[in-house]
Amino acid sequence: MTAAPGTRFITFEGVDGAGKSTHLEWFATTLAERCGGEVVLTREPGGTPLGEALRALVLHQPMDLETEALLMFAVRRQHLAEVIEPALARGAWVVCDRFTDATFAYQGGGRGLATAKIEALRAWVHPHLEPSMTVLFDLAPEIAQQRLDATRDKDRFESEARDFFVRVRSAYLRMAGAEPHRFRIIDSVKSIAEIRKELEKIVASIC
Ligand code: TYD
Repeated sequence: MTAAPGTRFITFEGVDGAGKSTHLEWFATTLAERCGGEVVLTREPGGTPLGEALRALVLHQPMDLETEALLMFAVRRQHLAEVIEPALARGAWVVCDRFTDATFAYQGGGRGLATAKIEALRAWVHPHLEPSMTVLFDLAPEIAQQRLDATRDKDRFESEARDFFVRVRSAYLRMAGAEPHRFRIIDSVKSIAEIRKELEKIVASIC
């Protein structure tokens, strides 16, 4: 996967509990201050009224694995059509909390769905668009799980066993290794202040 030239499409990824949500709004604000222009902060699954309704189902309703992958891409198609593509077309930055790498990591790595099937959906839903940069929050699953244990009302993914997150993490690291120009890996063991310093450097490198 290569980024279309000139895209301002930045995604955040990582296993549940790695802390990306703590930094997203701060990153979007810093990007707007340092780089200027409009910044659209959005998320998957979700990002549109239809996507948010489907998010509630996909996170809580038991379902077949292929249904899960198809729903992730249905949410994504709507999100691209309604939010991401128009924003990029008017020159805005788009900062998205998870995108297709999450499907490769969770449905592919975590649940074992064939990569070829996910790749076919990717080629259908967004043949020409890839994130220009992906910030991957990496954390050992045992630490991520300790952090998640403090969370009440876990969803279907957060309730998975450690092995699942070991596979999700390996899938993310494999993707990062295959595309080092796109991925920036954040070691989520570090403190919030240290991580923000790294994110500041990342922002400085893109504008
Ligand atoms: P996220 O919004 O990061 O969770 P939270 O806000 O609760 O921290 O993501 C929700 C879950 O959806 C997460 O466990 C990963 C999962 N997911 C997939 O399995 N496949 C996908 O394609 C996407 C986008 C998310």
